[in-house]
Amino acid sequence: MATTNKASTKGLTELFHGTLKDIYFAEKKILATLPKMAKAVQSPDLKAAFEKHRGETKEHVARLEEVFEVIGKKPQGKTCAAIVGMTEEGAEIMEEYKGAAALDAGLLAAAQAVEHYEISRYGTLLTWASELGLDEAVSLLKLTLGEEKATDEALTQLAESTVNMAAEAA
Ligand SMILES: [Fe+2]
Ligand SMILES: [Fe+2]
Repeated sequence: MATTNKASTKGLTELFHGTLKDIYFAEKKILATLPKMAKAVQSPDLKAAFEKHRGETKEHVARLEEVFEVIGKKPQGKTCAAIVGMTEEGAEIMEEYKGAAALDAGLLAAAQAVEHYEISRYGTLLTWASELGLDEAVSLLKLTLGEEKATDEALTQLAESTVNMAAEAA
């Protein structure tokens, strides 16, 4: 029986557009969640790190809107189940460790899971943009990827220098 597979006509351009919608949704979700996380933690350094990254995340959203423009599409999000799940896990930690010394370490770890997700997505988008010859998108995605990596490293430093010790001291 002959069947036409509609999906067979879909290529890298569609994958790129779909993943762009995924990370656009994710960045907006992160933008809404970071103030809650900054408010919840005790460590002034961790609070400052979350607030700093909130400012960067605003830029990430704006850059993604520019990338949509590069491919001639309207900025549009698509529900990203991964980020919804990670946000729920962060909320669980806030609930379960409310007032506990380990709250900061738990939320720092939750934030790093998000950073790793973003690094993965931006790494992929960057490779695809380059293969599709979207030079302007490559530059924009590179800037954001660099900030996600720097945030991840800053969080590791904070965990190792103070936040984990505070949790252990409890
Ligand atoms: Fe981001
Ligand atoms: Fe991030």
